[in-house]
Amino acid sequence: MHRITVMKVFNTIAALQNELALLKRTSFNVGFVPTMGALHEGHLSLLKSSKEKDHCTVVSIFVNPTQFNDKNDFEKYPRNVDKDLEILESAGCNIVFVPNEKEIYPEPDTRVFDFGGLDQVMEGQCRPGHFNGVAQVVTRLFKIVKPCRAYFGYKDFQQLAIIRFIVKKYNIPVEIVACPIVRESTGLAMSSRNTRLCESDRAKASKISKVLFYLKDRYNSFHSVKEMQAYVAGELTLNDGFDLEYFEVVDEETLLPPDSLQQPVSKVGCIAVWIGGVRLIDNVNFLS
Ligand code: PAF
Repeated sequence: MHRITVMKVFNTIAALQNELALLKRTSFNVGFVPTMGALHEGHLSLLKSSKEKDHCTVVSIFVNPTQFNDKNDFEKYPRNVDKDLEILESAGCNIVFVPNEKEIYPEPDTRVFDFGGLDQVMEGQCRPGHFNGVAQVVTRLFKIVKPCRAYFGYKDFQQLAIIRFIVKKYNIPVEIVACPIVRESTGLAMSSRNTRLCESDRAKASKISKVLFYLKDRYNSFHSVKEMQAYVAGELTLNDGFDLEYFEVVDEETLLPPDSLQQPVSKVGCIAVWIGGVRLIDNVNFLS
């Protein structure tokens, strides 16, 4: 398989598309990994999956303002493009797209998406407008890159469900590839936000995944979601520095709560919790 060896970085849509047009002339399959930078092993696992399947991988780095419902969170979002480029080059990335805001939004994006209710729970409830912003940027990026496959992590489980939904609903010709959560050695799910945790909070935060895996291991001993919620609230207490925003159990596709834990559908336990002023999310699939 012919591969590009030197990583190229583009800041404009025109320059990126010019390069992609040349590549696509020789029937290149383009894989796409959209990111907001502050790259970690989780992002690199997406790149690795693409490199296994596609002739060439485009990674985008763009901190998308429209998906932040909290201005402070947008401003504090970690940014280090130079380091990201070094990481991507060593990982064998082919093309990086680093647009500025004007390039992506020459005009304000006023599109409002229909997510069939998938945005009415969990992250959608806690972060109003967040998924509309994600859909705005992801559909724009898909239109620019026109990848055959795009890679997303299970860590942002609700985002993945929503992207799968809009791809189907709006007939976007791209295959969505879901990749497993990558965890630090302590079990903490990798996230760009982890860099904002002080050392002791980072150590404490490993308890989040421990609680989720305890629930998975003892799944059959819990009789209801309420019982699970009580267990989670008892483990992640304010006294220990946690501020639990939600713990929900939902159907993997519909994101609806199951009628009972015994229902034979794929159920995912999802959590959002604050620690040291940083909001972390994680999830575990109870049936896989
Ligand atoms: O998951 C993320 O990092 C972002 O939501 C995404 C998909 C890159 C859109 O900005």
